[in-house]
Amino acid sequence: MAIQIDAEGIRKIFPEVDQIQDKTLREGVVEIWLELADETAWERFEDIPKNLTLEKHEPLIGHIQGVTRMALALAEVAEKIHGITVDGDLLIAACLLHDISKPLESEPDPGGQPSGGSILPARKTEFGSKIQHGVYGAHKIWEKDLPKAMELAHLVITHTRASNTRAASYEASLIFYADWADSDAGIITGGGRPFAARWIEEK
Ligand SMILES: [Fe+2]
Repeated sequence: MAIQIDAEGIRKIFPEVDQIQDKTLREGVVEIWLELADETAWERFEDIPKNLTLEKHEPLIGHIQGVTRMALALAEVAEKIHGITVDGDLLIAACLLHDISKPLESEPDPGGQPSGGSILPARKTEFGSKIQHGVYGAHKIWEKDLPKAMELAHLVITHTRASNTRAASYEASLIFYADWADSDAGIITGGGRPFAARWIEEK
């Protein structure tokens, strides 16, 4: 199975991609999404859940849209108030690619537990069980030889707690906190306990 979509369709889902100034990077991000459309077991990006637990009702693409817009909004405020500037191309590309492995981490589970929303029932794939989240994004970035590939792969890998390396750039901070903020939005709308409330308890 695969998702039938073209570059224009990807740009419609993620309009921020067109804010990437570097043409090679901009087109590379779209190409990676098109490749994932071919590789996934899903038939529509809209059906893919953000995860299989507290956010199973949340669409993955809504999460990525949320993270990208939140990170850009934070970047704008940080620049205005604190005068800190970030690499906009790197930030947008990293936000759009940070969860690129997720279309492979789950698959449709007809007859499975309803998600509680419009998202279809899903189950974890062998890929989702065996390959650390974030790693496939880095693989794609290098395979495409994208501009700033090292830093971009670093941002994608380190956005998740699964990583045993951490990033120290401000772009990394923005992705990291935007990812948590958007995830908590999804958890709260699903009636769950947000990550913010659980950090201390899990120490
Ligand atoms: Fe995420």
